[in-house]
Amino acid sequence: MFVGDSISMNQRESLVCLLHAAVPDSKIIVESNPLYSNTTFEDYGVSILLFLTHYLVDIKEEQIGRVLKLDSLKNGNIWKDMDVLVFNTWLWWYRSGPTQPWDYIEDGGKVLKDMDRMGAFRKALTTWGRWVDTDVDAGKTKVFFQGISPQHYNGTDWNKLGVTNCAKETTPISGSTYPSGLPTAEYVVKDVLSTIEKHVQLFDITTLSQLRKDAHPSSYNAFKGMDCTHWCVAGLPDTWNQLLYVTLTN
Ligand SMILES: *[C@@H]1O[C@H](CO)[C@@H](O)[C@H](O)[C@H]1NC(C)=O
Repeated sequence: MFVGDSISMNQRESLVCLLHAAVPDSKIIVESNPLYSNTTFEDYGVSILLFLTHYLVDIKEEQIGRVLKLDSLKNGNIWKDMDVLVFNTWLWWYRSGPTQPWDYIEDGGKVLKDMDRMGAFRKALTTWGRWVDTDVDAGKTKVFFQGISPQHYNGTDWNKLGVTNCAKETTPISGSTYPSGLPTAEYVVKDVLSTIEKHVQLFDITTLSQLRKDAHPSSYNAFKGMDCTHWCVAGLPDTWNQLLYVTLTN
C-alpha cells in the first residue's frame, strides 16, 4: 500500500503499469471506497493499494472548522494489515490560501491559526513514527518512508538563474551532484526516522530525482498548468519502483 499525497498516486500508477506490462493477460480487479483504491492482479494474489492522505495525520471537521491534528493518526488501523507500506508526505505542508485544506492546526492540545510549517511537518512525522513503534508488526509488515520528492520551479537550484519552472528542461543534470544540495525537509525526515525504534527504511529517491529536472509533465498534463512537481509516469516513478523491487527482493 502506498500511503501519502499525489506523489504516492504517481508511483502507484507506475507500478500498476509495470506489472500489467509484465503480465498483460492477468485478470485485474479494480475496487475503490472512500478511503483507498485497490488494484488486484487476481492470478497472482497481488494487490496494489493507494491510501490518499496529504498529511498522514488527521484533519477533523470541528465546530470551529477543519483542524489539522498533528498528534492524531487514526487511519493506521487500515495500514497495519499490509505486507508492505510506502509512506510519503511533503507537498501540502506549505500550502496556504484557498487550497489549504484546514483552518486550524492543533499541536499538543493547543489550537492555533498557523505555525511554523517545517516544525509542523516534523511533529506530524514524529506522530507517525510513534504509530510505527506502537502499532506495526515488524515481523509482518515492511515499512518504507519515501524521501522528499523534489520540485523544479527555482532555476537557482540547478544553476540557471531566473528560470522559474521546468518547461524548457530536456536533459538531466550531468554527474551525480545537485547544485543546491538536499532540501531542508529531507534532513527532517532523516532526523525523525533515526528516532524510530522499529525498522523503517528510508526509500531515498531525493538526489536521483533532483537530477531529473527534465522528467516532469510540465505543460503536458491534464490540468493545463505548469507541473514541475509530479513525474511522467513512464519515467522516473518506474525507476523508483525498480529500486523498490530490488530492495524488497534482497
Ligand atoms: C530561489 O532560490 C534562491 C536560493 O535559495 C532564493 O534566494 C530565491 O529567493 C528563490 N527564488 C524564488 C522565486 O523563490
